[in-house]
Amino acid sequence: MEFAKRLDTVPPYLFVEISRKIAAKKAEGIEVISFGIGDPDIPTPTKVVDELRRTSLDVPNHRYPETDGLPEFRKAVADWYKSRFGIAVDSNKEVLPLIGAKEGIGHASLCFINPGDIALVPDPGYPVYSVGTWFAGGECHWMPLIEENGWLPDLSSIPADVAKRSKVMWLNYPNNPTGAVADDSYFKEVIEFAKSHDIAVMHDACYTEVAYDGYKPLSFLEVSGAMEVGLEFHSLSKSYNMTGWRVGMAVGNADMIEALMVVKSNLDSGIPNAVQYMGIEAMNITDEEIDQRNAVYQSRRDRVVQTLNKIGLEVEPPKASLYVWVRVPNGYTSAEFAELLLEERDVVVTAGNGYGPSGEGYVRLSLTISESDLNEGLRRIEGWEIPLKN
Ligand SMILES: Cc1ncc(COP(=O)(O)O)c(C=O)c1O
Repeated sequence: MEFAKRLDTVPPYLFVEISRKIAAKKAEGIEVISFGIGDPDIPTPTKVVDELRRTSLDVPNHRYPETDGLPEFRKAVADWYKSRFGIAVDSNKEVLPLIGAKEGIGHASLCFINPGDIALVPDPGYPVYSVGTWFAGGECHWMPLIEENGWLPDLSSIPADVAKRSKVMWLNYPNNPTGAVADDSYFKEVIEFAKSHDIAVMHDACYTEVAYDGYKPLSFLEVSGAMEVGLEFHSLSKSYNMTGWRVGMAVGNADMIEALMVVKSNLDSGIPNAVQYMGIEAMNITDEEIDQRNAVYQSRRDRVVQTLNKIGLEVEPPKASLYVWVRVPNGYTSAEFAELLLEERDVVVTAGNGYGPSGEGYVRLSLTISESDLNEGLRRIEGWEIPLKN
């Protein structure tokens, strides 16, 4: 069987070697502690699951949903944007429910990218931005995220000919994997750049509800002019511990929402209605409940940062997101360091180069790990003397 060439555009799975080593450890009876996956261990709130129990019994919810969702769900999204960010959006024209943000992000490239077009993609970044571009026949221009620039793409370094051929810019703040945040002055710069080069801005805002020390992340759409140039992707996955239910939304420019609806309505049939009712319930969760959940992650963040500092790694505590981004000691590559930690301490972290070439030299630790695994993982790391390398 000959498969389509687009499958060859997906880079080889970088974690194959580490997965093989984890399996070998398990076979030896060694329990590995993983800081790898960004998938909340904290359960979906009970009242949200209760809503599924209740609405799953209604026979109309057993039938096909609409691609553009229940009007009640779209209205709940608009109300949530109003109360959380102070933005008024039209729930019929500027909101589109998604089967998780990943689905919308993957499909969005089909709306903007013709073969040969360029997408500006953060490096390191969530891999779906680049893979979606390649599947649509486009090319990626990496925008390096580096510490000196606060992990924000330097727009002035994008060559003029690249900007001319670019149709889309992907951004993600709070950021996976660096944990960085963006402020409104940066978003203003992005909007000016997008307007002057006629580029659509796709902002992935999946982590706005996971923040620490009283910090409240911005929506890109709060910034004047954003609705003219872009879309924001949101997810209930990380906001309300709902990764397993697959529910999110795109909000923003009405023409772009309509274009995404054309793609989606031809390829999927929307979110199951009962899951949309769960989403409505979730978006009514109080700030206090979110603060309590974030206090759990914040305490984990602090313990992780403290332990890493103790063994000589310099780490800045992130203001938001579920990730701690750590520069590996001199002489190591990301993969070498991750492998050594697994070899010597039975602890898994993610090698930064898996998120793009500029992720080389870093590893990522996720805070979505149970308290007992966290304690054991930190105990193992704390006693580690990292072998020196030239
Ligand atoms: C930056 C980013 N965007 C999108 C997603 C996917 O979100 P969802 O679960 O809504 O598909 C993730 C998941 O890890 C992510 O890290």
